[in-house]
Amino acid sequence: MATASPTPAPAAGTERAPLLEVSDLSVTYAAARPVRAVRGVSFTLDRGQTLGVAGESGSGKTTMALALLRLLPSAARIEGSVRFQGEELTTAKWGRLRAVRWDGASVVFQGAMGALNPVRTIGWQIREAIVQHERGATGVRRRIEELLDSVGIPARRYEAYPHELSGGQRQRAMIAMALACRPDLIIADEPTTALDVIVQGQVLELLSGLVRESGIGMIMISHDLSVLADTCGSLAVMYAGEIVEHGPSRELVREPRHPYTGALAAAFPTIGDPESRLAPSGLPGDPPDASLVLPGCPFAPRCPVVMDECTSAEIELWESDPAHPERRSACLRVLGDAPETAAGRPTAGFVANAASSAGSATNPSRDPLSGHRAEEPLR
Ligand SMILES: Nc1ncnc2c1ncn2[C@@H]1O[C@H](COP(=O)(O)OP(=O)(O)OP(=O)(O)O)[C@@H](O)[C@H]1O
Ligand code: SF4
Ligand SMILES: [Mg+2]
Repeated sequence: MATASPTPAPAAGTERAPLLEVSDLSVTYAAARPVRAVRGVSFTLDRGQTLGVAGESGSGKTTMALALLRLLPSAARIEGSVRFQGEELTTAKWGRLRAVRWDGASVVFQGAMGALNPVRTIGWQIREAIVQHERGATGVRRRIEELLDSVGIPARRYEAYPHELSGGQRQRAMIAMALACRPDLIIADEPTTALDVIVQGQVLELLSGLVRESGIGMIMISHDLSVLADTCGSLAVMYAGEIVEHGPSRELVREPRHPYTGALAAAFPTIGDPESRLAPSGLPGDPPDASLVLPGCPFAPRCPVVMDECTSAEIELWESDPAHPERRSACLRVLGDAPETAAGRPTAGFVANAASSAGSATNPSRDPLSGHRAEEPLR
């Protein structure tokens, strides 16, 4: 699949490797019928940038994120290239990889609240992360208190056990732990799942602030397209292990070019519109079996605007918006000269209609960016 890179070329003489460069990354889990969980994913992320990754359950988001740092079980085979600050990680030695996992890039895991050790204090757990990776580190207690403070946990809670903290505080403690070794990249997998909307807003604001103020890069995974659009500069939408659309988040959510993004963007209720909360939000059908080789477009069996050639054509991430050349969509319909694509380049209306005929909660008058969950605080 083609690379969708939002990174501008550096001036001559000032070249330095991007923070993260992922090329043609694929992951297959060994099984009686091997599971092709990630298929040919490519993207670039630089310092100070935030990439949101969206997609239905099982689309390969977590597998892709864990593959970046080779955190997958041994049954997973990784192909392709992951370059972190210019260094290839898919073939790096374990010692080097271990160092990168803490000093260079940290992960806030999906379901992180259960990842804390219940019999150790929060302070002790963060201290472990630091001393394991910075031998002879001094002033650690003070540093941890500052870290806790920076994520909105009073420094005096250093001695608190996980069960003594609220869910939001535990999640923020995980973020503090991820920040402990001053990483350049944070990968946050569903960091706000299971948090109430107020705490969700606080955690998202915290993560966005870190990117703004420290210039680190962040990959954030979520089912919630509107949360990602609010928090991330660019967005990658995954379907059946592939990136099917990639580009600046607000444009991508406001005017989807891929029918699947259109359906995802339409799947959230509109504030002040009770009917939209009752409308079915899913597409008909299920994602394809991850063990199958998928000729043509993987979305074809569910696509409301499928064409005959969609099931056999070679689909790539094509440029799909003249106003945003970095924007790419893996849909034959974005090719004005595609065979028998009389509709030509799809418009927002085209995709909204597509989503609508798929039975999702589309309201043509609504702006998906204001379509947060009704109780969600708007920032
Ligand atoms: N350890 C594993 N062994 C075999 N298959 C796996 C394993 N982990 C994940 N899979 C499969 O890989 C595919 C992608 O799973 P993954 O967890 O990456 O999806 P996801 O997009 O993160 O989903 P969710 O939104 O539910 O977290 C799924 O078909 C899943 O069943
Ligand atoms: S390529 Fe065809 S099947 Fe796939 S999303 Fe586009 S129109 Fe639908
Ligand atoms: Mg996941």
